[in-house]
Amino acid sequence: MTFRSDPTLRCPLDALPLIMADGCLRCEDGHTFDIARQGYVNLLPAHNKRSRDPGDSKAMIAARRGFLDAGFYKALPARLVDCHLSRLGHDSLIVDAGCGEGYYLDQIQQRLRNDDKPEPRIVGFDISKWAVQSAAKRFSATWLVASNRQIPLADRSANVILDAFGFPNFVEFSRVLKPDGMLIRVEAGQKHLLELRELIYPTVETNNSPHTLPSGFHRLTRDEITYTIELSAHQQIADLLLMTPHLFRAQSEGKKRVEELSSLTTTVHAVIDVFQRE
Ligand SMILES: C[S@@+](CC[C@H](N)C(=O)[O-])C[C@H]1O[C@@H](n2cnc3c(N)ncnc32)[C@H](O)[C@@H]1O
Repeated sequence: MTFRSDPTLRCPLDALPLIMADGCLRCEDGHTFDIARQGYVNLLPAHNKRSRDPGDSKAMIAARRGFLDAGFYKALPARLVDCHLSRLGHDSLIVDAGCGEGYYLDQIQQRLRNDDKPEPRIVGFDISKWAVQSAAKRFSATWLVASNRQIPLADRSANVILDAFGFPNFVEFSRVLKPDGMLIRVEAGQKHLLELRELIYPTVETNNSPHTLPSGFHRLTRDEITYTIELSAHQQIADLLLMTPHLFRAQSEGKKRVEELSSLTTTVHAVIDVFQRE
């Protein structure tokens, strides 16, 4: 898809505005960043990479895309739009920090497009280049390889920052949000994927999710969604296992039990918190 530039983009090397020219983004000091033919820009400086291939792997991204595109989490972006995003004003900026393969933003823009209102500007970034390559195939937006540790956006530029199952950096979120902007966090609730976890682990902790208040923010609302999903194909179960941290944490016996399943009924339990800067 075509890369969409945005006036709030900032150079990751000197924080100057980035302007699109001759197929790349350029700042006044001459730093340039190529626009990849897939429709995204890599704004992650080498010195900010903590590994050669940071973030989720190509296989994890493919698994998440397969699972999410089957619609199992469709209720989550639907709730975000209905409760928080449908009333955004003209020319609003929505930023998905750790956007993965772009499912949430895709659902959000489709739902907002159906509303009879001007479309918001959309920035999605992730530290995994595999995630951003996959996201950029969904629709044209400002897709970036970038890190929460240094978000390449201007101060006080975002109306909404979405952090869905991500790795938040509240200092950066606070810098980038407008004073009346919303930080929306989607986190796993205590019952999330409980039946899967019961198969994987010898004992399951259901009281381990404190959902702390980020410093510098106050909570506006909290909302919970709980429902059951039925996975009826082995591939769906394999995708779910690969896209969560459980595959890496599980002992071989637990993994084997899940690998042998041909169907699984499990709970989706998400907690949606909306915060505003103090
Ligand atoms: C559990 S996934 C959630 C992805 C997406 N929000 C979703 O719910 O489908 C976490 C994502 O955070 C990304 N990530 C990890 N560290 C990050 C960082 N420092 N900055 C931005 N993204 C990061 C990973 O590459 C991965 O795509």
